[in-house]
Amino acid sequence: MDVVNALRWRYACKKMSGATVPVEKIEKVLEAIRLAPTSMGFQPLTVLVITNLELRKKILPIANNQSQVVDCSHLLVFCTWNQFTTEQVASYMQLIMDTRGVTAASISGFKQALENLLANRTLEENREWAAKQAYLAFGVGITAAAMEGVDATPMEGFNPGLLDELLALEKQGLRSVLLLPLGQRDEINDWLLKLPKVRQSASHLFIHLD
Ligand SMILES: Cc1cc2nc3c(=O)[nH]c(=O)nc-3n(C[C@H](O)[C@H](O)[C@H](O)COP(=O)(O)O)c2cc1C
Repeated sequence: MDVVNALRWRYACKKMSGATVPVEKIEKVLEAIRLAPTSMGFQPLTVLVITNLELRKKILPIANNQSQVVDCSHLLVFCTWNQFTTEQVASYMQLIMDTRGVTAASISGFKQALENLLANRTLEENREWAAKQAYLAFGVGITAAAMEGVDATPMEGFNPGLLDELLALEKQGLRSVLLLPLGQRDEINDWLLKLPKVRQSASHLFIHLD
């Protein structure tokens, strides 16, 4: 499927069948998320991949009883980092050096720029910035899932405070931002499946400045 047809095929699945998605397809979605661009390449996020049904049952009421949380195959929890430290920056610089075989001196300006960016903002601003990066990766994940014929439901409809508590995220330096159940649509019982997609026209959405 080309990307446009995949995006026409996908929808925010309201009822999943409970079927298990083959691990190769899940791996592709995860790899797409890993490859998503982020500001300065910092990737200030962590994605939990939950298959445990008992745990997903506990998440259900926290996610407004949206049944996809339990009827999906894999539940992704997009988290961002809670704090931003010089150690995280140093670890990222080490990754660049190891990956590209460059010296610390050659990237010292970039390192300083990233440290300044983080230091010149409040913790809340840094958290918001990190959340924007998570949304980007989320979008890439949704598109990748569609390309693989895997259904997904983008979800902001949950209580992040309660989820953070249940998963002990604060202790791990994380906070939950988004949920993405991955699974298979229930073709008979999903009321949304047969309704046409609602989107603004291209002439409404785009202004071409030639
Ligand atoms: C960030 C975000 C959060 C969303 N949260 C929910 C949600 O909690 N539950 C839900 O059923 N749909 C949720 N949606 C789905 C949107 O309502 C849906 O994507 C939109 O209406 C467009 O429809 P389509 O995705 O079916 O094409 C969310 C979508 C996005 C992008």
